[in-house]
Amino acid sequence: YGQSNTIELLPNAQETVVSKNIYGHFAEHLGRCIYDGFYVGEKNTTIPHTSGVRNDVVDALKKLKVPNLRWPGGCFADTYHWKDGIGPKDKRPTIVNQWWGGVTEDNSFGTHDFLNMCELIGTEPYLAGNVGSGTVQEFAEWVQYVNHPGVSPMSNLRKSNGREKPWNVSFWGVGNEAWGCGGNMRVEHYANIYRQYATFMSDWSNSSKLFRIASGANEADYHWTEVLMRDIPHHMLDGIALHHYSTVEWNHKGSATAFTEEQYFATMKSAWWMEELVTRHSTIMDKYDPKKKIALVVDEWGGWYNVEDGTNPGFLYQQNTMRDAMIAGMTLNIFNNHAERVRIANLAQTINVLQSVILTKEDKMILTPTYHVMEMYNVHQDAKLVPLVIKSAEYKFNNQSLPAVSASATKDAKGATHISLVNIDSKQSQEITIDLSRNEYKTVSGRILTSAKVQDFNSFEQTDKIKPAAFKDAQLKNGKLQVKLPPFSVVVLELK
Ligand code: AHR
Repeated sequence: YGQSNTIELLPNAQETVVSKNIYGHFAEHLGRCIYDGFYVGEKNTTIPHTSGVRNDVVDALKKLKVPNLRWPGGCFADTYHWKDGIGPKDKRPTIVNQWWGGVTEDNSFGTHDFLNMCELIGTEPYLAGNVGSGTVQEFAEWVQYVNHPGVSPMSNLRKSNGREKPWNVSFWGVGNEAWGCGGNMRVEHYANIYRQYATFMSDWSNSSKLFRIASGANEADYHWTEVLMRDIPHHMLDGIALHHYSTVEWNHKGSATAFTEEQYFATMKSAWWMEELVTRHSTIMDKYDPKKKIALVVDEWGGWYNVEDGTNPGFLYQQNTMRDAMIAGMTLNIFNNHAERVRIANLAQTINVLQSVILTKEDKMILTPTYHVMEMYNVHQDAKLVPLVIKSAEYKFNNQSLPAVSASATKDAKGATHISLVNIDSKQSQEITIDLSRNEYKTVSGRILTSAKVQDFNSFEQTDKIKPAAFKDAQLKNGKLQVKLPPFSVVVLELK
């Protein structure tokens, strides 16, 4: 049938839990993510909405079980002054989005709009504060504004703007990409700045402890992680970020849909690099924090291509094919398998920007192949990791090769085991023998995401070209599972 692969499921001695927060998303004031994506405003729209937020988007994100949502950036975060986005909307100042297209925005989507939207979706907010062009006081006041339960200058201001109860936000990013758009700092300088900001971020709330995340390394900048771990006292540090995008080549990204096998292979290679990045950053963190108290937070990841023809180059609007489904499936397997250290991650970005789960056009909305992968994988959220050993066949192209199969497995609270499998090979099928290591299962069922061509995508004309289907090619026999994966496919199995 195809190439041979083996997987062995191992006992979970450490009882590691795959944090649901690995399945987080990211919403920046960038292109059509917030305005025209999440938010259509309360006036002059015929699109059904709740306080200006599209109802179809809320429903789709609820089904996805989005655990957390990062906002307002990205690079935008280090230009954002939160007080511009509170109070009566007609009194809010306009600002120019200096990183993304130079467009003017009216601040009609601000702190209340975002945090109330999170309540609507049922997701936990992750706020990224302005370090690059803000002040310690401005940041500290934002924390007080959203979290102070009693009487204080900022909670009084919040109440006067119509919100009595605090939102109790835990996740706080102390700046973004401090090595680049967040201030072009050296890490030694940023570590000091971080200490200063973290000192004044008070834990006002009774019910949620602040989880402070330092702006982390760009890809393989291991020195960055080393210095943060060495120079920041660990009682004021809960997470360290890491950003990595999968590209063909940074200066020649190519089309999101019309790509060659060479470009496809290069993107897969870039996506697989995440395994090495996470492993090596974790090894540095282990040296300073062997008990793994500090999380590695991959708060930006995903595929990055050229924008669609005719769209604003600063808006980063791209289509989403089976190639993106491959990136999502293998990256989430990497995160699951590193669950001891990787405890938060955010795909960039939710709607109409980079590797989106949703694309919108006027009153229409489509779910991308990436949406379907994240939905199929949400069975892993907060389940116990089942470690595995995999012997994968190779996906060969020219003189290079990559592992063709990636996998991860978890056991949920009801005792069901889920195994997610990805075959990135664009031509070869895979035969996989899974040794269930004496676990007794009676039934296997599953779902598959694939399509006729790896370049296929869902469009506004054909919204359901790619969607999950029942998977029948898994047979359970004598403690072994025999699975057949077609080329470029994602499968999630359930064993009971
Ligand atoms: O996600 C787009 C941009 O990529 C973010 O604003 C920035 O943090 C990163 O460089």
